[in-house]
Amino acid sequence: MKPVIAIYPGSFDPLTNGHLDLIERGAKIFDELIVAILRNPEKEPLFSLEERLEMIRAMTRGHENVRVDSFDGLMVDYALNVGATAVLRGIRAISDYEYELQMALMNRKLEPRLETVFMMPAETYSYLSSRLVREVATLGGSVRGLVPELVEKKLRAKLGPAMARHKEATRE
Ligand code: PNS
Repeated sequence: MKPVIAIYPGSFDPLTNGHLDLIERGAKIFDELIVAILRNPEKEPLFSLEERLEMIRAMTRGHENVRVDSFDGLMVDYALNVGATAVLRGIRAISDYEYELQMALMNRKLEPRLETVFMMPAETYSYLSSRLVREVATLGGSVRGLVPELVEKKLRAKLGPAMARHKEATRE
């Protein structure tokens, strides 16, 4: 039987424990899982593409069937190029559903051979998003337990001055 390759596309800016949870679930059911980071020239990310590739690679090193890559253009084109037949996406709460359904159906219209598979991360992470992690970290709040330690360290290195400034200002 042909191995089933799935891609897990996203921005991962930064990788959260919710993403990692989904990667672990996906790695169990697909023969190969490719974490595919979108190269989006229109969006100024907090972490560069290289930094995100490096962090996700480090955090998934233990999974032999997981690899990390980047793509631009249409996700369906990238998926076909790497021989994937499935796209993995996470649904945290009902609020994710509308956007995800719209995207899955548009992708199906573009490429009917590609199947979107939704998985739910552990409920502990149901409120977690990269956007909130960026916001909380920038404002000096703790993101411990929400992102891998490596990501926490990189956030501190990148946002250290902003975090310290905020802490100083709120102490007064
Ligand atoms: O982490 P995100 O921002 O929710 O991921 C969104 C992503 C990268 C999956 C989506 O924006 C995407 O696939 N972009 C690539 C361009 C594309 O194929 N657009 C049509 C989507 S229906």
